[in-house]
Amino acid sequence: MSPLLPPVPLVGDDVLVPCVDGEQREYLSADSAASTAALPAVLEAVESFVPWYSSVHRGAGYKSQRATRAFEAAREAVLRFAGRQGTDDVAIFCRNATEAVNHLAYCLRLSPDDVVVTTVVEHHANLLPWARAASCRYVECSPEGTFTAAAVEEALGAPPRPRLLAVTAASNVTGWVPPLDELVSAAHARGVPVLVDAAQLAPHRPLPKEADFVAWSGHKMYAPFGTGVLIGPRQAFTEGDPFLVGGGAVDLVTLDEVIWTGVPEREEAGSPNVVGAVALAAAIEQFEAMGWPALRAHDRELARALRAGIAAVPGVRLLGPALDVETLPVATFSVDGMPHGLVAARLAAEHAIGVRHGCFCAHPYLARLLGLGPAEMEHHRAAARAGDRAAMPGAVRASFGVNASLASVERFCRALAQVTSGEPPPVRYVQDPATGDFCPSPSAAPWVATNRPHPASCSPG
Ligand SMILES: Cc1ncc(COP(=O)(O)O)c(C=O)c1O
Repeated sequence: MSPLLPPVPLVGDDVLVPCVDGEQREYLSADSAASTAALPAVLEAVESFVPWYSSVHRGAGYKSQRATRAFEAAREAVLRFAGRQGTDDVAIFCRNATEAVNHLAYCLRLSPDDVVVTTVVEHHANLLPWARAASCRYVECSPEGTFTAAAVEEALGAPPRPRLLAVTAASNVTGWVPPLDELVSAAHARGVPVLVDAAQLAPHRPLPKEADFVAWSGHKMYAPFGTGVLIGPRQAFTEGDPFLVGGGAVDLVTLDEVIWTGVPEREEAGSPNVVGAVALAAAIEQFEAMGWPALRAHDRELARALRAGIAAVPGVRLLGPALDVETLPVATFSVDGMPHGLVAARLAAEHAIGVRHGCFCAHPYLARLLGLGPAEMEHHRAAARAGDRAAMPGAVRASFGVNASLASVERFCRALAQVTSGEPPPVRYVQDPATGDFCPSPSAAPWVATNRPHPASCSPG
């Protein structure tokens, strides 16, 4: 059965990249969970806006007025996308989802005595801000990387009452989608507000309307121009000082006093990324045109084919929930006897396929999925402290979006089967112990020379 949505091409989909056999091949991004290329309509919106680009909220000129209107129209679009039109909720533009969560962690004025309930499934973006600002009560996961609503309810019900439930809407590692509606209801029943990290969910399913706070990014939903969003009730941002302080956030400054301006501008100090906001609004229009039912059907087909295809490759272990559990088109796996970095390097250099490897900014989750015990983790901790990344734990992740078809998944699975077949690779690969990454040996230039930015790591956490 083919996906209901015809694949939607993205800018750059037809780009050819060099492989170690000297051939150029069409690049296949199997890494949309990390970041996505632009939808053509997004690029067009950016190109038609750029001649009108000017300062936002800071100029009397015609172009400034027009740029300000575009920025505020984008704010309306993100509120609509999050199902908040007609409410008193506000949208605050941030750099990305990470900044959005840090922003909220600041505005909640938490202290080390406050408890935040979160889970071991989280991306570091929804883990580290809470661990720094408060005391975290972690919901554990099963060996398949899932948790139940009952486990979250137990954590919510334990004393002292938590200040927040901070939970992902979808895992960036396994594509697993927690029972979000149940979690939000359970938290609200106990008077606990909820932040949903929707960075992965946003390009796949509607954002949760009932969550108090939602954070996500444009660059994972085909608007790679650098904006993120934090949505929440206006009154959550009216007390105390803003997260960032500076120009644009104030009504009056003397050397003795600051009168902060109204929300959301008080939370957006400095010149905003208006191009990023325009791009995100254009992407939102495209999502509205495609419609969630078609997107979900497309994702379901891709996810099923991807996970079944990977699980069928000999020597490959798919991590995460059972094959009959519906996930996003995101799949993470390990390969018997082959380092994750080598699998990723061979897919790139021999097959022109881009994947991510490592721990995907979710170290506690990966440790659980890989079944690493305390002794193994202590060993890896010692190596990390010594700057040796040669044997860091990890896995390989393949993820797809609207531009993918079943043919993309088949191409990926064929390449994976070839790389893991036991046949010797066509070139020698060498590992850089400082990053853990593998590269075709220098004799395979020009692939190395043109593509590998040494010594930047492909997989920092
Ligand atoms: C679930 C999840 N949350 C948060 C983030 C952080 O997003 P950003 O890079 O936009 O800050 C990511 C990025 O991969 C993610 O997958």
